[in-house]
Amino acid sequence: MSFLPKPHGGKLINAYNPNFDYSKIEKELEIDAIALSDLELIGVGVFSPLTGFLGKTDYESVVDRMRLTDDTIWSIPVTLPVSHETAAALNIGEEIKLIFQNEVYGVIKVSQWYEPDLEKEALQVYKTKELAHPGVKRLFERGPVYVAGDVTLVKKPEKGVFSDVWFEPKETRALFAEKGWRTVVGFQTRNPIHRAHEYIQKAALETVDGLFVNPLVGETKSDDIPADVRLKSYKVLLENYYPADRVQLGVHPAAMRYAGPREAIFHAIARKNYGCTHFIVGRDHAGVGNYYGSYDAQLIFHEFSIEELGIKPLFFEHSFYCTKCEGMASDKTCPHGKENRVILSGTKVREMLRAGELPPPTFSRKEVVEVLIEGLKQTQTV
Ligand code: ADX
Repeated sequence: MSFLPKPHGGKLINAYNPNFDYSKIEKELEIDAIALSDLELIGVGVFSPLTGFLGKTDYESVVDRMRLTDDTIWSIPVTLPVSHETAAALNIGEEIKLIFQNEVYGVIKVSQWYEPDLEKEALQVYKTKELAHPGVKRLFERGPVYVAGDVTLVKKPEKGVFSDVWFEPKETRALFAEKGWRTVVGFQTRNPIHRAHEYIQKAALETVDGLFVNPLVGETKSDDIPADVRLKSYKVLLENYYPADRVQLGVHPAAMRYAGPREAIFHAIARKNYGCTHFIVGRDHAGVGNYYGSYDAQLIFHEFSIEELGIKPLFFEHSFYCTKCEGMASDKTCPHGKENRVILSGTKVREMLRAGELPPPTFSRKEVVEVLIEGLKQTQTV
């Protein structure tokens, strides 16, 4: 018997069929890396209950009220944008090959296409229409018409350096069950794991059976640390500082939206599909710049009941090392002033690492920093 939560919407979607015969389909559609990752995530069930790219009524319902038309909670539109010319050549009901870099990865059965109100989507989902926001910029760049329809994933993208840490929901669910975990907390990150991340992960792990470290490795903004470099840092950290029987590393191949609160809900749903019972939401989760308040991504969870969401968020205050406490602490547990707290912004840390400078061990583990500096040196020389 499984103690893990039911997938979102009741069952895991499996839209992967490597034997699907598309030899008679002539029309093809070139998709971008984000659509490819969405296609795979739909195909293997990480985005359950979605079976394809959203149709107009579901899209509008998600934008307006964070629910699909059938009321299932869903906070980020998953759409397939194309140009007007591409849309004009489509016919309802036809199947079209989805191509990325000359390879067929999927087939969509076109149910409709529609022109979204992108400004409204930006304001509702990202809370801004400023192009300085990386998610909004991408939204306006990707295409003015959305094609909807169920998809079949016919080929899974190559996993490369991630192959040993790439799991589908059915695999993570089996892994957690095998380990005998009844409660599992999921952790999202698009960064290297620093001491504050480690602190909140371990604080969460004190109260549950297992920790699923699930870094996002899909598209991120260009100044974020590349996923392959981060991967090495995750491995070295886990080897040196985490108990192997309590922690599972696995990557999340989704694109980062930087949609703050709405993305926190989206992240939680994906982790529920992987089999997590709990999900960590710390300070400014999935945020970028100053677009969201530090705890907006926690407050949004109050708009839904935990029963309906099916995964329990665990909230953490801004954490840091305090030189007076001589340990990790947070706004909630440390009485000392700013001058005692080791706090570095993400931008500052990335600058230091790229310059080969070591952030202090109170901020990041030495082993992690070394791997990152080395990895970044290599990416800069290519
Ligand atoms: S995110 O875009 O993937 O959310 P990041 O990798 O920085 O960014 O954060 C991963 C998780 O750790 C998020 O839940 C975030 O809220 C939390 N977090 C990051 N830094 C801190 C911190 N100093 N204190 C508390 N929570 C944090």
